[in-house]
Amino acid sequence: MPWTPPDRLRRPPSPFRGGSAGVPIALRAVTKRYKTARGGEVQALSELDLSIEAGAFVSIVGPSGCGKSTLLMLVSGLIPPTTGAIRVGDRPVKGVVDNVAIVFQRDVLLDWRTVLGNVLLPVEIKKLDPSIHRAKAHELLRSVGLAEFEEKYPGELSGGMRQRVAICRALVQDPGLLLMDEPFGALDALTREQMNLDLQRMWLRDRNTVLFITHSIEEAVLLSDRVVVMSPRPGRIADVVNNDLPRPRGAHTRSEAGFVEHVERIRQHFLALGVLSET
Ligand SMILES: Nc1ncnc2c1ncn2[C@@H]1O[C@H](COP(=O)(O)OP(=O)(O)OP(=O)(O)O)[C@@H](O)[C@H]1O
Ligand SMILES: [Mg+2]
Repeated sequence: MPWTPPDRLRRPPSPFRGGSAGVPIALRAVTKRYKTARGGEVQALSELDLSIEAGAFVSIVGPSGCGKSTLLMLVSGLIPPTTGAIRVGDRPVKGVVDNVAIVFQRDVLLDWRTVLGNVLLPVEIKKLDPSIHRAKAHELLRSVGLAEFEEKYPGELSGGMRQRVAICRALVQDPGLLLMDEPFGALDALTREQMNLDLQRMWLRDRNTVLFITHSIEEAVLLSDRVVVMSPRPGRIADVVNNDLPRPRGAHTRSEAGFVEHVERIRQHFLALGVLSET
């Protein structure tokens, strides 16, 4: 007879699973030029076209200064493009987009609020239903192993735990779009690997659209349906690598031929673009 776990080991059914459908994103001929303090101009992005379907996980890799963070800010509506058009969901972006959450490299938690208080911050700011979102906050914290840390303060947590809290805070509002700017760049390799698996699990459950910036080619390939490779500034799209390796992916995926091929293809781009050098 097959073993069935006792009730206490079973995950209770979640009212949130599969809840939030991601939104599509489209950029058409988007350029961004910044004015510099000395009155000059920097062209950060050049004629960018990119379509991302609802619920896709897309990574952006590219050399420092090629405009990755700029791209994220443009999609969130925090800054306007110089020319071109951006749509998120069924609307053109004009000002800050609703329904979007951003996770940065540094977790920017509020040190005077508890873990749970930090996760619930966007719920308070946006005046969302507290009881529904409180339940979601508990569920998210439990799913990343932080159930027992809800009443602790950020200063009592490790870097990986803090970044988990930041991700829970981003997901508590069920964002249609999750923007992540090198969210795991400051973590040690082992914690980072675990965070990749945690993030994949949460995304498989919620299917938000994710735009994920990373400097790690392996991380991009492990997590993404598509990896967008950017050239040095002004950033252009050098290649888009489609990745349909089966999910859930994990340590076993890294030795699969398809994984190794994708990583190698992206590395070759960086060698050709002069971003990597073997001599
Ligand atoms: N507010 C700004 N004013 C002027 N120039 C800017 C501004 N923000 C970014 N830039 C310039 O635009 C270019 C792209 O910057 P961006 O931060 O988007 O790059 P990035 O790809 O995210 O780099 P990194 O990998 O180092 O984070 C850089 O040359 C940067 O100096
Ligand atoms: Mg950046």
